[in-house]
Amino acid sequence: MSQQEQFSSRIGFILSAAGAAIGLGAIWKFPYITGQNGGGAFLIIFLLFTLILGLPLLVAEFTIGRTAQKDPVNSFKTIAPGTKWHYIAILGMTTVFILLSFYSVIGGWIITYLGKIVTGGLNGLNEAQYAEMFGETIANPLITLSAQFIFIMITIIVITRGVQNGIEQANKIMMPALTILFIILVIRSVTLDGALEGIAFLFQPDFSKVTSGTVLEAMGQSFFTLSVGVTAMITYSAYLPKDQNLPRSAFSIVGMNIMVVLLAGLVIFPAVFAFDLSPNAGPVLVFNVLPTIFSQLPLGMLFFAAFLIVFLFAALTSAFSMLEVIVAVISKGDAAKRKKWAWIIGLAIFVFGIPSTLSYGVWSDATLFDKTIFDLADYMVSNILMPLGALFIAIFVSFKMKKSNLYEELKQGSSIKYGVFQAWFFLIRYVVPILIVLVMLDVLGIW
Ligand code: PFF
Repeated sequence: MSQQEQFSSRIGFILSAAGAAIGLGAIWKFPYITGQNGGGAFLIIFLLFTLILGLPLLVAEFTIGRTAQKDPVNSFKTIAPGTKWHYIAILGMTTVFILLSFYSVIGGWIITYLGKIVTGGLNGLNEAQYAEMFGETIANPLITLSAQFIFIMITIIVITRGVQNGIEQANKIMMPALTILFIILVIRSVTLDGALEGIAFLFQPDFSKVTSGTVLEAMGQSFFTLSVGVTAMITYSAYLPKDQNLPRSAFSIVGMNIMVVLLAGLVIFPAVFAFDLSPNAGPVLVFNVLPTIFSQLPLGMLFFAAFLIVFLFAALTSAFSMLEVIVAVISKGDAAKRKKWAWIIGLAIFVFGIPSTLSYGVWSDATLFDKTIFDLADYMVSNILMPLGALFIAIFVSFKMKKSNLYEELKQGSSIKYGVFQAWFFLIRYVVPILIVLVMLDVLGIW
């Protein structure tokens, strides 16, 4: 979308921003991270962080973007001329670069699975064989790299065209479709024999399992699912008309995100326990469990294909927002530059992502700090770079921008009460930065 273009409707913005937020984070990452971190207690910490850190940060990014109405670098330069604050945007661009490099690996996995269904590759397999088949498939570099390439190509093409309107329209169908498919799946999953154990795993907190690492993962996950800390939401809100209700948009996005996270949890964990699988399987968890649930439904493979299409769409709309962050800064609204740079950056991300793909195959033994290249990229983005970006954004908004200007901006299009504004300001000025620093220091063992 060019700088002059704006979202065509209010609901269009909310859906596009929700589409950018809701993606692999809620559907793929949340179940596996929760599975690795002991279930219920992790869910509670994640929800808390989403409300007291993620939500205020989302409002903060919306406020910066709509105040300046420019790409992230220029937004910081406009609000704080002659300072170095725009490095926050450079940090954000670096973060989304790494993020998209491994995000596209998972996007590729979805495409691969779709290919399997279409070519009948899942026919006649039983529960154990799905996981085995999947493991073998993602170890094949030719298949996974091609699929990752297709995922990046779609992202590049959409971003070169700036077809935000098309995405707005599609989102109006895809988001409800996602919800309906999820509800069907939840019903199937929770009525399986032995499902109760999975529900208990998700909702019965066992705080003895919580370590400083768990808390950091929960914080990173709350930033990841809401796309905060990387200036992506600044990028989107720069295209907003002044009559958009920012606090309400932020609430809707957080609400939708929490809903999808809970649905994903209610699909995956009952099935994991009913089928005697391990919640600890890591990034492959969702991909191992889903076909098993679908195989228990009438017309299962048809439903599975529909689900994968919606899942792919959710991943793509998030991927668009990542590439958009970088391209918006470099092209500054110039259409020709936009085309050229979307290709250059997109292809560079693909190349940078190759080692992540290979860490599920030929490079599975290449590890650093006990993590594969894929896991390392994921960890760095979610647990180091996003929290750092979020920290600086919170400090920038609350110490560098004028409080009265913030209130004025937030009041445009909304009837936010001064008390509510004060509560937000308190959170973003004190609670957000202090908590982020404490959680990070705690993991380093400093605090
Ligand atoms: N929120 C997205 C998801 O949950 O899949 C991930 C994401 C998108 C993070 C865009 C950051 C971003 F800028």
